[in-house]
Amino acid sequence: MYVLGIESSCDETAAAIVNEKKEIISQSLWTQIEDHKVFGGVVPEIAARAHLEHIDEIINHTLQKANLQPEDIDAFAASSGPGLIGGVVIGVMAAKALCLALNKPFIAVNHLEGHALAPRLTGDVKYPYLLLLVSGGHCQILIVKGVGDFERLGTTIDDAAGEAFDKVSKMLNLGYPGGPMIEKMAEIGDEDRFVLPHPLANSGDCNLSFSGLKTAVRKIIESYSPDGDIKNSILDKKDTADICASFQKAVADSLIHKLEKAIKIFKQKYPEGKDIVVSGGVAANTYLRKKMAALAENEGLIFSAPPIRFCTDNGVMIAWAGMERFQKGLFNELDFKPRPRWPLDENAPKAAGAGGVKA
Ligand code: KG4
Ligand code: ZN
Repeated sequence: MYVLGIESSCDETAAAIVNEKKEIISQSLWTQIEDHKVFGGVVPEIAARAHLEHIDEIINHTLQKANLQPEDIDAFAASSGPGLIGGVVIGVMAAKALCLALNKPFIAVNHLEGHALAPRLTGDVKYPYLLLLVSGGHCQILIVKGVGDFERLGTTIDDAAGEAFDKVSKMLNLGYPGGPMIEKMAEIGDEDRFVLPHPLANSGDCNLSFSGLKTAVRKIIESYSPDGDIKNSILDKKDTADICASFQKAVADSLIHKLEKAIKIFKQKYPEGKDIVVSGGVAANTYLRKKMAALAENEGLIFSAPPIRFCTDNGVMIAWAGMERFQKGLFNELDFKPRPRWPLDENAPKAAGAGGVKA
C-alpha cells in the first residue's frame, strides 16, 4: 500500500511516498530558504510562485526515485492547511488532479497533524501520547488520542516558539531561519548571563506566551546601543552568544514548566499513556530535546522526537498522516476547500465539518 504526500504550506516544496510498514519509499524536498533569506522571513507571494515552479518536478522525482508509476499509488495526500494559502492551494490542486485523473482517493491532511503523527512513523509511539508541537507558526501542548483525535491542553496566547527564535535572530542580525542560528551561537554562550522573564509561569494552566520574552531581549540589545536603536547596537560575539544562550534557556524552561503541568493532567486522565513526544521545527533544537528527555526520565515516561530532518516541514510526515487516515478510510471529497486556519483539536474523525470527511 502506497500513499504519496505533498507539503507546500510554507517555504518547503516536498513530496514523499510511504507504505503501511512505516517504510519511506522515497522523498524529495526543495527548500526556498535562499529565496526568503534576504527578506528575513517568508514572503507569501514568493513562496507561492516557487511552489508552482517546483511542484511537478518534486512529485515526478519522488515517483521516479521510488521506481513507481502514478497509478501504483493508492492515495494522494496533501497538506491542506493551516499555512500560507497560496502554497497550500498549489499542493492541494496537484494532489486532487492526480486523484481525479487516476481515480484514487484524496486525503486532506492538517499540516499540524503531519507534525503530530511523524513520531509514530519514526518511532514506536502509541496512542494516547502527550505532544509538544512547536513550529514557526504554532506552539501547543496536546494529548494525541488517535488519528484526528486531539485534546488541547495549552497553546501560546501570542507568538509561537519558532516565531520568537526567528524574531530574536533578526534583531541580532543572525539570519533566517532563526532557530538553527540561535542554537549554534548558544553553544558558545553563557545561559545564565541574562535573566529573562518566563511569561505566564504562574497562570496555573498550560498556556504559553513568548511575546514578552522577545521584548525583554530587544531591551537588552537596545541597552548596547548609544542611541537606543538596535540597528546601532554594539555587541561582540560573546554578547551575542550569551543573549542566544539565555534566550534559548528561557524558551526551553517555559516549555518544560508547562509540560510538567500537562504531564499531571495526562497521567491522571490517561494512566495507560506512556509516551511524551516533541515535534515541529523547534523540535530540531538539541537543547530542548535534552531537557525533555530528562523530564521524561524523571516522570517515568518514554521520550521520542523525530530525527532532526523530519522536525522541520517535509513530505514524509504528510504521507504518513495520509497513510494513517487511509488505513481508517478517512478520505476527502475533491471539493475540499484548503483551510488557511485549521485548529487541530477541531479535526475529529466524525466531524464532517472539516470538509466532508467520509468516515
Ligand atoms: O515546522 P516548521 O518547519 O514550519 C512551520 O510549520 O512553521 O518550523 C519552522 C520553525 C522556524 O521558526 C525555525 O526557526 C524553527 O522551526 N527551528 C528551530 C530550529 N530549527 C528550526 N528552532 C529552534 N532550534 C532549531 N534548531
Ligand atoms: Zn510545519
